[in-house]
Amino acid sequence: MKKILVTGAAGFIGSNFVRRVLDLRPDWEILVVDALTYAGNLENLSGLKEKHGARYRFERADIRKTEDVEKVLRDEKFDGVFHFAAESHVDRSILGPLTFVETNVLGTVNLLEAVRKYQDIAGTRFLHISTDEVYGALGKDGFFTETTPLNPSSPYSASKASSDMFVLAYHRTYRLDTVITRCCNNYGPLQFPEKLIPFMIKRALYGEPLPVYGDGKNVRDWIHVDDHNDGTLLAFEKGKPGEVYNLGSRCEKNNIEIVTLIIEKLSALMREREDFRTPEIAFVKDRPGHDFRYAIDPAKAESELGFSPAVSFEDGMERTVRWYLENRGWWEKIISGEYMEFVKKLYGEKG
Ligand SMILES: NC(=O)c1ccc[n+]([C@@H]2O[C@H](COP(=O)([O-])OP(=O)(O)OC[C@H]3O[C@@H](n4cnc5c(N)ncnc54)[C@H](O)[C@@H]3O)[C@@H](O)[C@H]2O)c1
Repeated sequence: MKKILVTGAAGFIGSNFVRRVLDLRPDWEILVVDALTYAGNLENLSGLKEKHGARYRFERADIRKTEDVEKVLRDEKFDGVFHFAAESHVDRSILGPLTFVETNVLGTVNLLEAVRKYQDIAGTRFLHISTDEVYGALGKDGFFTETTPLNPSSPYSASKASSDMFVLAYHRTYRLDTVITRCCNNYGPLQFPEKLIPFMIKRALYGEPLPVYGDGKNVRDWIHVDDHNDGTLLAFEKGKPGEVYNLGSRCEKNNIEIVTLIIEKLSALMREREDFRTPEIAFVKDRPGHDFRYAIDPAKAESELGFSPAVSFEDGMERTVRWYLENRGWWEKIISGEYMEFVKKLYGEKG
């Protein structure tokens, strides 16, 4: 049995990862640690104990707290750590950057430090999940490669870039066995409804206009969460120590294209429902420091890891829109309290 620690797996990508990997790797046992912030939801991990028994465990721990992290890493030896835990929403980082520094920078260093102190330096691989946002913005042409200089624009991306630097420094200074993946925008089930795709679906179902920043021409590279997680697994199993791998599926879309596709898919799925009205797009003031374009060159992951995304955007979006329709109870429970306050602050209206 391989023992694996996964941080932040009550969130979107981590919970999809744990669900997938417990099925794909029957010789792995996984301990999930998560602070259960506003973005962490135990429901995302429901059924795993029943399905996998002792191969799945959960402990509540805050990576900002040294004592929490040490408690987890002191008494058990792990073959690998997958570090997903983070404050992840760019808009929130603009309203309040400090939590991003505490969790993404200090929290990551806390983990690295505990691995260095209590684990076997050569035998515990530390897989750090990062983002293409650390590279800053592209113009109309070009792609991010692993050697593109880090040039983050938002407090979120600055905190992720900083944590990447610490991970690299722990490899160079202490020979920790680290691998970093930098992935583009993910979509799929279980994504917190503040993020673009579930946010738009929710508003459309409530008959509200769909707010699009600026002129809607900002381009992002999109990948289905299962493809990202398969790439993460490959990087863990085949990546070289100290290396960085960009993960993307060569799927550039601007925000208008995304919102239009959501409207199309929803309209098709809801055509029998008389209460459904085709939503309107409302252009709103652009986000400060809004990067124009991100585009990943995944050639290194393709050639060195055999990474090959399997989900087409059309099919992935179809399944995703359907999932949010069929799991309305999941996201309606989330839309309350703290989340509503945040949306009100951001958009000055009911979210
Ligand atoms: N969502 C994307 O499109 C995307 C793209 C590339 C990389 N990433 C990276 O992937 C990772 C996961 O992203 P996500 O979209 O699933 O995020 P998410 O916000 O859905 O989940 C984050 C999880 O981390 C937990 N967490 C936050 N602070 C914590 C703390 N102090 N201690 C312990 N747990 C804490 C939360 O409770 C939550 O369960 C992040 O590192 C993010 O930077 C995300």
